[in-house]
Amino acid sequence: MSILGLLDEKSVFITGATRGIGRAIALECARHGATVHVNGRDPERTEAAVAALVGELGGDAAVVASPCDITDGEAVKAALMAAYKHAGRLDVVINNAGIMEPAVLGMSRDDSLRRMLAVNVEAAFGVARIAARLMMRQKRGSIINMSSIIGRVGVPGHSAYAASKAAVIGMTVALAKELAPANIRVNALAPGFIETDLTAGIEGDARETVLGQIAMGRSGRPEDVAGAALFFASDLSAYVSGQVLGVDGVMVT
Ligand code: NAI
Repeated sequence: MSILGLLDEKSVFITGATRGIGRAIALECARHGATVHVNGRDPERTEAAVAALVGELGGDAAVVASPCDITDGEAVKAALMAAYKHAGRLDVVINNAGIMEPAVLGMSRDDSLRRMLAVNVEAAFGVARIAARLMMRQKRGSIINMSSIIGRVGVPGHSAYAASKAAVIGMTVALAKELAPANIRVNALAPGFIETDLTAGIEGDARETVLGQIAMGRSGRPEDVAGAALFFASDLSAYVSGQVLGVDGVMVT
């Protein structure tokens, strides 16, 4: 029994959780008593990330490496099945992994568009499909998809990424309706500007412009998103589904 305990006895699977927002969510879920399955693309890096998480949390933390490229459907199925068998259940699946390749329309490339759709949409869809099948066995579950403020309001130079993150919202609201009878909730998070490797390249004037759009006057931290994820993961949101929660410090784009 953990001290915090909102996710005691729960089993959580998070894609792309070796760094950034996914890692912060993994920490938060483990602190609240969950068995956390940390997905990462590279097996060695995933094992190293899990060792670091256990080091931070303490020896009895239940954090398990679950490496695979989420664009590989068979590997995803095996990873989710293994997580289900390991914990005997699968309560929460978080589609966090994502990529962002900015380009103005005239310079945009089909292969980049396809990559973003493959990771941000198609893979998330595949993960949700397998997760829902497993959750139906236990007649309960929570699926959390990572959208973005860019998918809601758009940003110049990000049309393909915006398209992918808007698709995540469409998928979320449709699945919420479809899976509600099985007691599976589906919600999305729409972070604003969060300090991670994904946004590290936004520097100088571009950075000042973005920061100037945040009414709270600061960029977000991965922990800010983790708190919102904890709400959707836990029974605090037992009657909440089909919602898109902005985590953006009031971004006035
Ligand atoms: P990040 O780049 O630090 O982390 C993304 C993780 O996804 C990485 O660990 C990466 O290896 C993993 N990943 C990518 N492709 C994968 C694949 N095929 N298989 C397995 N793992 C894969 O980025 P960050 O900032 O932590 O982003 C997490 C999510 O939040 C993403 O979906 C991103 O689009 C979204 N987001 C981030 C915002 C920000 O300001 N940082 C704002 C809005 C949304």
